[in-house]
Amino acid sequence: MYGAHTSSALRGDYRRARADFTVEQGWHRYSAADQVLWRRLYERQCRQLADSACEAYIDGLARAGSATRIPDLKAVSDALTAATGWRLVAVPGFIPDAQFFAHLAARQFPVTVWLRKPEEIDYLVEPDIFHDFFGHVPMLFDPHFADFVQRYGEQGLHAITLDALPLVARLYWYTVEFGLIETPKGLRAYGAGILSSAGETAYALDSAQALRIRFDLQRCMRTRYRIDAFQKTYFVIQSLDQLMAAIDQDLDLLLTQLRSAPELDPEHLAPGDRIVAPRRSAMPIPMSKPVPPPAGVATP
Ligand SMILES: [Fe+2]
Repeated sequence: MYGAHTSSALRGDYRRARADFTVEQGWHRYSAADQVLWRRLYERQCRQLADSACEAYIDGLARAGSATRIPDLKAVSDALTAATGWRLVAVPGFIPDAQFFAHLAARQFPVTVWLRKPEEIDYLVEPDIFHDFFGHVPMLFDPHFADFVQRYGEQGLHAITLDALPLVARLYWYTVEFGLIETPKGLRAYGAGILSSAGETAYALDSAQALRIRFDLQRCMRTRYRIDAFQKTYFVIQSLDQLMAAIDQDLDLLLTQLRSAPELDPEHLAPGDRIVAPRRSAMPIPMSKPVPPPAGVATP
C-alpha cells in the first residue's frame, strides 16, 4: 500500500499515530466477527493459490503462519526479521509517500491495522490488513524480493526530489502490486493486488481480455494503470532477481527523460512489446465483478 492522502476522509484513526505514522496494532481490539471474516478471506484465497502463486509466495505464506487468526504483527515480525531483516509496522491506513518510502528503505513494511467489514469482502476503497498482510508479507520472506523492496524505497525517496513520483509509483504498481512471473510450472502471480483478490487472480493469469508483456523498466514506468477495475496490462518477469537488477542503478537520467515522455495506454501494445501467453487457453472472464483495492498509489 501507499498513497498521498492523510486527510480526515480516510477510514483509519490517525489521532494516535506517531510522527512516522506508526501506531500500536491493538490486537485485542479485533472482534470475534473480525476473526471469522479473516479466516473466510484467508481460506477463500488459499483455495486458488496452489496453481496461481509463485513458490516464493507460497513458502512465505506458510512462514507468516496466520491462517486461523488475524496476525499479531509483532510476532510475525520476529520470524520475518530472522528471515530477511524486515519487520512489520502498524499504520492507520494510507500514509504520505515520503514516509512510506522511508519505511521501505529501513526494511519496515507498513500494515494497516483495520479489517474490512463482511459486506466488503469483495471490494473496499482502501487497503486493509488482509490486503497488506496476505498480499505483501509472504513475498518479504524471499531474500531477493526483500532486497528489491528496500532498494525501491530508497529510489522512491530520491524520485520525489526529481519530481518523478508517478514514474516510480507505476513501477510499484506493476510489480509489487500486480506482478506476474514465468516459472517452470507456468505463469504465476507474485503481486499483492492479484493474490489478495478473489477475482483478479484468475483474470490476471488466464483472461484473454488482458495483455501480458515481458517486464521492461521504461515501458512499465510509462504505462498508466487502473485503480477501479482489473488491470489491462500485466508485466511479466522471468526471475525475482530481475527486479533488483532493473532498479539498482543511478536512475536520475532515466527518470528525467521519462518525466517528459508520452504516457502509454495500458489497453494497447507498444512497439517492442514481447507478449507472454496466458496460463491456460484463454477464456473470456466477465468484468462485472468489482476489484479489490490494491495499493492507494497516487494516480499518475
Ligand atoms: Fe498493496
